[in-house]
Amino acid sequence: MNICVVGTGYVGLVSGVCFSEVGHHVTCVDQDEHKIKQLIAGRSPIYEPGIEELLVKNQKNRRLRFTTNLKEAMDKANLVVIAVGTPANEDGSANLSFIESVAKEIGDHLTSYKVIVTKSTVPVGTGEKIKNWIQEQCGKMAFDVASNPEFLREGTAIYDTMHMERAVLGVESEKAKELLIELHKPFNTNLVITDLATAEMSKYAANAFLATKISFINEVANVCEQLDADVTKVAEVMGLDPRIGSAFLGAGIGYGGSCFPKDTQAFIQMGQSAGYSLKIVPEVEKVNFEQRKRLVMKAKQAFGVEGLRGKQIAVLGLAFKPNTDDMRAAPARDIIPMLTGLGAEVRAYDPVAMQAAVSYLPHITFASSWQEAARDADAVMILTDWKEFKELNLNELKDELASLIVIDGRNLFDPQLMKHHGFYYDSVGRAKIEIEGERYESITYRGSRLHRQKLS
Ligand code: UDX
Repeated sequence: MNICVVGTGYVGLVSGVCFSEVGHHVTCVDQDEHKIKQLIAGRSPIYEPGIEELLVKNQKNRRLRFTTNLKEAMDKANLVVIAVGTPANEDGSANLSFIESVAKEIGDHLTSYKVIVTKSTVPVGTGEKIKNWIQEQCGKMAFDVASNPEFLREGTAIYDTMHMERAVLGVESEKAKELLIELHKPFNTNLVITDLATAEMSKYAANAFLATKISFINEVANVCEQLDADVTKVAEVMGLDPRIGSAFLGAGIGYGGSCFPKDTQAFIQMGQSAGYSLKIVPEVEKVNFEQRKRLVMKAKQAFGVEGLRGKQIAVLGLAFKPNTDDMRAAPARDIIPMLTGLGAEVRAYDPVAMQAAVSYLPHITFASSWQEAARDADAVMILTDWKEFKELNLNELKDELASLIVIDGRNLFDPQLMKHHGFYYDSVGRAKIEIEGERYESITYRGSRLHRQKLS
């Protein structure tokens, strides 16, 4: 098949690369010349494991091309995929201005029948709008509009696309249906064929449900803390019920990223303008934000009456999740300003997201390793569940720290192991490990340098 993908952001680039990998001929278009040059040179503008190998391989075998020229890219294509951004408006609704201008441009260049497929997450009814925008430009030329929302996750985007567990084909004609079935044949996946509105809705419903699962388990965690229960075990028990499923029951500091926060907001707005006020999803959002505040309170509590003023906090992890440099709606962007607002000094380390984080967090310092971040720090705070942190050597961590306080927003360590090592360890939804007697007193009330000497 010959496919044109408009927009080389996460969704567009990953889809384009994967379509070419399974044998389709793909031309990706973007108006950003610099980005296109970079892509032609085999460099990915996004951090995504495995993407550059496929970029190089499929350009070499001529199944994948990049251009800034939409007309030329559309020329031979029977399918045009719209994958441009839909940022949030101030009221949380999805901004469709990029979609509109691309749809009109597609209309301008339409010289033969094509199916125009939307992969961007768009409110229900956008397919109809796209149809009108194209029609206004191309007059009587025949075309179909379809919806094929994307469910990929950042950090595992290539894997998710190559092994997609389902594809939603929102179509209005047999021709469009046949083409989209052919597009997905090499992926050997479950196809759900629907109308446009249902396909568009399914993306919002899926994301809002996953966000709900996360906020739900976070609330369970908060009750567990009050009652000395362990949320990770509770989640394990829940997850073994196939009606619930084990995924997305990881308690922590709430969800971030480019999708959940934006899509839940847009879903609420969409309901409102359709005449129905969603009740669960707004609460999901509230719980999500409260969860960040709770971690800051845990850090404050660790220092007792001294509070956080003047304390050196080593923050490990800035990205909203591991294997990405994406800082969009990252919990770190809420938590770190709360810490500095309480007088703490923050030195942060993230394996890949520091460059992306600088502009959001101008008042902190960055370290080139977790060891450097932890050096002489009064506490460590874990905000992203990078493998590197999960596997860190606790003896080494003890050697670096001035006082042995770990506030873990991602439940990376076994509390009993932390106890054995002598840490004060507070995580999410599990019993807090406190240091008894004199050792705890010394953490709370004495200068940290002094305290370190005392412990070793
Ligand atoms: C999500 C959806 O998973 C994907 O289907 C959709 O297309 C886009 O949005 P993504 O934002 O890349 O993907 O990341 P995801 O892995 O879903 O994680 C989202 C956030 O939830 C992260 O901040 C993560 O840390 C958090 N999370 C996830 C939890 O706090 N607990 C969990 O159990 C799972």
